[in-house]
Amino acid sequence: MKAKNCLIFGGSGQIGSFLIRKLTKNNIKVTVVTRNIHQKGLKIKTQGNAGFIDIKEAKIFEENKIEKLFSEADYCINLIGILYENKRNTFKSIHTIFPTLLAKLCKKYNLKHFVHISALGINDAVDSQYAISKLEGENNILTNFSRTTILRPSVVFSNSDNFSTQFMTLLRRLPVFPLYYSGKTKFMPLHATDLSNIIYHILSNKIETQVIECVGPEILTFKEILQILLNLINKKRLLIPMPLSLAKISAKFFQLLPKPLLTEDQLRLLKYDNVTSGKYKTNSDIGVPSKLFFKNEVKKYSFMWRDGGEFSTEKYMSENLKEEN
Ligand SMILES: NC(=O)c1ccc[n+]([C@@H]2O[C@H](COP(=O)([O-])OP(=O)(O)OC[C@H]3O[C@@H](n4cnc5c(N)ncnc54)[C@H](OP(=O)(O)O)[C@@H]3O)[C@@H](O)[C@H]2O)c1
Repeated sequence: MKAKNCLIFGGSGQIGSFLIRKLTKNNIKVTVVTRNIHQKGLKIKTQGNAGFIDIKEAKIFEENKIEKLFSEADYCINLIGILYENKRNTFKSIHTIFPTLLAKLCKKYNLKHFVHISALGINDAVDSQYAISKLEGENNILTNFSRTTILRPSVVFSNSDNFSTQFMTLLRRLPVFPLYYSGKTKFMPLHATDLSNIIYHILSNKIETQVIECVGPEILTFKEILQILLNLINKKRLLIPMPLSLAKISAKFFQLLPKPLLTEDQLRLLKYDNVTSGKYKTNSDIGVPSKLFFKNEVKKYSFMWRDGGEFSTEKYMSENLKEEN
């Protein structure tokens, strides 16, 4: 059977790497679009076997360049997203206007399936510009191309995320750590491998559900997540509930940084639990329950944040003990 072609936008990111491996191993050829082939090419190229990966350089609004790629594609997957805005990249342009363009091109070139990654909880977070832009993007996509599946993941983690790794760095360095909303916000962390399995399942089984909430196998509060991470890196830190007024002031300050640790919009988003709504199908409902638990998976790479690094692992310690005996 002829291998299918999948056009991926945002494939150089965290989820992209896992997804490219999953698709190419399963005989799907991918064309990955990046803004900078010199910066991202090597990372993308090494995620699959030669012959299965093609890389194209294009800015997301270079419509002519992008349109040409659709004539060869069977599937399109959009992984482009931002957590904070700057002058050039607004939530509206990245989460609303660009995905709408992709949906129109999917229709024009009669693609078999469009998978768009949105985010969990965006119906509730009515005061977040991030959530509003994602929701508008979803609506526009669905009115333009019906063979679309929109995935709404909870927080996605892996050894190359900006979540568990960034928190471990901060927890290692800071003597105290602020708990926004007393650390009570709930999440269902989803491993990037599980999310890639969901996407592959949707393409290969022609799942036609339009919106699917994608979650990991457990519910953890923000405080529980931090406690797991502290435990894994063998650190004790004071986790202190931060009054909202102070949190707002710190977010105002942080968002001035080129890569903000926290923005006012993210603070608003953190107010809402990031768990299944009960209104949409979940990955379990379509037959792909998540298997990977947060603590077990982070344990595999957390040693790099512990004193002693790789020499602090159980494997190294037990080998050393054997030698001593
Ligand atoms: N990670 C999570 O916890 C999580 C949770 C819920 C939803 N999501 C959504 O899932 C999708 C993928 O997430 P991810 O964690 O893999 O993201 P990521 O690691 O930040 O990667 C996203 C990719 O998007 C491209 N990109 C970023 N800014 C861009 C811009 N201004 N213009 C054009 N391209 C841009 C980049 O590719 P190039 O540099 O190669 O162009 C980047 O590699 C996003 O839509 C995100 O909102 C993620």
